[in-house]
Amino acid sequence: MTELTLTTKTVARIKADAVVVAVGQRDGNPVLLDGADLPRSVTSSLTALLPALGVKGGTDEVVRAVAGDGLAAEVVVLTGVGPADDVELEALRRAAGAAVRSLAGTGDVVLALPAETAEQVGAVAEGALLGAYRYARYRSSGPAPVARIELASPIARTKDAKAALARAVIIAEGVSGARDLVNASPSDLYPQSFAEEATALAKGTKVKVQVLDDKALRAGGYGGLLGVGQGSERPPRMVKLSYSPARAKAHYALVGKGITFDSGGLSIKPAKGMETMKMDMAGAATVLHTVLAAAALELPVKVTGWLALAENMPSGTAQRPSDVITIRGGKTVEVLNTDAEGRLVMADALVAAGEESPDAVIDIATLTGAQMVALGSQVGAVMGTDELRDEVVAAAGSAGEQFWPMPLPSELAESMKSQVADIANMGDRFGGMLVAGLFLKEFVGQLPWAHLDIAGPAFNEGKPRGYTAQGGTGTGLRTLLTVLERAAAR
Ligand code: BES
Ligand code: MN
Ligand code: ZN
Repeated sequence: MTELTLTTKTVARIKADAVVVAVGQRDGNPVLLDGADLPRSVTSSLTALLPALGVKGGTDEVVRAVAGDGLAAEVVVLTGVGPADDVELEALRRAAGAAVRSLAGTGDVVLALPAETAEQVGAVAEGALLGAYRYARYRSSGPAPVARIELASPIARTKDAKAALARAVIIAEGVSGARDLVNASPSDLYPQSFAEEATALAKGTKVKVQVLDDKALRAGGYGGLLGVGQGSERPPRMVKLSYSPARAKAHYALVGKGITFDSGGLSIKPAKGMETMKMDMAGAATVLHTVLAAAALELPVKVTGWLALAENMPSGTAQRPSDVITIRGGKTVEVLNTDAEGRLVMADALVAAGEESPDAVIDIATLTGAQMVALGSQVGAVMGTDELRDEVVAAAGSAGEQFWPMPLPSELAESMKSQVADIANMGDRFGGMLVAGLFLKEFVGQLPWAHLDIAGPAFNEGKPRGYTAQGGTGTGLRTLLTVLERAAAR
């Protein structure tokens, strides 16, 4: 990953390939933001150049110019933050991310962005490191991410600034790790290799890993994972991650959907619909890296992660529409549509998670196309018990992720009545996201619970924006970690 250090050095005198400065908007005009402590002569000549450079100061606007006299750096990069007064932390993350992303291939970069508080230092660092992300595993050429970043801040030497940076690095490592898993070719990432990767990543940390192979799954009655996985040559796995610090304030169970490829099974998807379905394990990737991040931060909260890993494939051994399976704990499900597989593996994992009676259960899954119909490709949905659901939405707001609360109207549950089993895995098409949430609810019991449907935001099919690359986004990690941090602070 890109190396990032804090500095109190005078920005104008730091030798670097590029120095990044923020531009905001005031009364419709672009204004240079003076977080940088640049010499007057530099700011006034840069300010005079803004109209000719076409700089407006809007978000996601990045413009490069020759640095000129008064700066030891070669190039100045102007990055927009929107409204100049009260710059939001998320605007800083995006501005830092967009600038650093645009500088791929560059060696040394100085960030002269507003960084007067620890929160601002954290936001700039987080945005910069996330913006530097590039997935190159299968590439033979292309620019490398920015090698080194110096983040200029008047409070660089304080404990708070250092802690904010350390947290940003842990978050960026986690989000990047989750993105890597999502972006991996599904020929390389399948249930067993995912479980091995989790085991390798946890080695040397305070996270314990337990892998249930297909034999253990049969012995444990995990009929959802086995049913979904039976069409694949590559058998399912359940991975249990435990971070259990002394004097834990609470116990959170996190459950992630880990379909390493979703072809739909015999209810097969059309070719277009399959193109992005390597990302159907994004929930599990987020849970894995959230548990690792909580341990790295040494949060005084017990966290148990459950990764429900299977590959959904059509074959002579695949489950059939109308098959009846038995979820762990004994409830039976009629599988009317094999493409509604996520809820089947999640049901097993939710039951297993609930058996330990944690204080709360949060699950995260690329569960329904209906999620994107409802909220588009950048906003995630949260359902569940009222208090925890609202807690998650609030945490997302401060973490810089977009999540919106959604209801679980009980009348929709009727549509999942089965003629032969306790419940069917499909119901009304309208409100499909809510129907899926109601299905999961059947397997949670009485615990506080939140269900995050990230079908849209887990994967960026569009252009890169701010600190968000194309492909896997790592959505959910920052929100879940914030929920855990808040529980730790209570
Ligand atoms: N993994 C998909 C949901 C999905 C679709 C995620 C598009 C991201 C983008 C899920 O397994 C699925 O196929 N759901 C079905 C359920 C339906 C058959 C009830 C859907 O949403 O169409
Ligand atoms: Mn599916
Ligand atoms: Zn799926």
